[in-house]
Amino acid sequence: MSNLEFPVEVSNLTKVYKTRGGGVNAVCDISLCVNVGEFVTIMGSSGSGKSTLLHLIAGLTNPTVGSVKINNQEIYNLTDSERTRFRCRNIGVIFQAFNLIPTLTASENILLPSLIDGKNKVSRDKLDNLLRILEIYDRRRHRPDSLSGGEQQRVAIGRALLIDPAIILADEPTGNLDSVNSANICKLLRDLCDKEKRTIILVTHEKSIADWGDRCITLKDGRIENK
Ligand SMILES: Nc1ncnc2c1ncn2[C@@H]1O[C@H](COP(=O)(O)OP(=O)(O)O)[C@@H](O)[C@H]1O
Ligand SMILES: [Mg+2]
Repeated sequence: MSNLEFPVEVSNLTKVYKTRGGGVNAVCDISLCVNVGEFVTIMGSSGSGKSTLLHLIAGLTNPTVGSVKINNQEIYNLTDSERTRFRCRNIGVIFQAFNLIPTLTASENILLPSLIDGKNKVSRDKLDNLLRILEIYDRRRHRPDSLSGGEQQRVAIGRALLIDPAIILADEPTGNLDSVNSANICKLLRDLCDKEKRTIILVTHEKSIADWGDRCITLKDGRIENK
């Protein structure tokens, strides 16, 4: 069950990346609220700011302007280490590029967030169960370079889900999966939302994936096009 009572509130969020050629306005003045137990999807063409928005909500990149409140906590008022701890306890992030550690096995990669936050001891049974649900149990001792793209993606999903996060932020989590595996992952996320009131924000560019959510937000040039 979700241990958070209050929504994810994004207010006037703007992110400008500084580059040699000048500033890139990746996210421009976005405000949105995602309630506890809501499953929101974000669509938009490549470069529209989806990943940047998700990283801002995860507390992974500082906004240029604006705020992100999670369960009434302004996350950018926390120190870096407080914010990391907050994330490890409350948020599971599935990255578009997986971000697996190449020297660790599939199991070790999945266990990583629980190792960072020493308070989150995970039982062997729980890990094995998750490996089975994701159908990577027999790959658990493999390192990322000996896993297929789809298997690496499922390891990244396992790492995000292991600690039962109240909030799941997923960046194109099915981009490397076939249609059967994609539907399995979407069903798993839908169940976590319906049965356990987890809050989910999922980025996708596929309408068939977005349809699993309660509502869809479309980004264009860093701004919300609809609500
Ligand atoms: N680290 C970065 N430095 C500079 N520009 C970036 C960086 N990350 C993303 N961008 C730019 O910000 C915009 C939004 O990118 P991104 O959030 O990755 O979009 P999406 O996930 O929708 O494809 C793009 O123009 C992209 O080139
Ligand atoms: Mg992206």
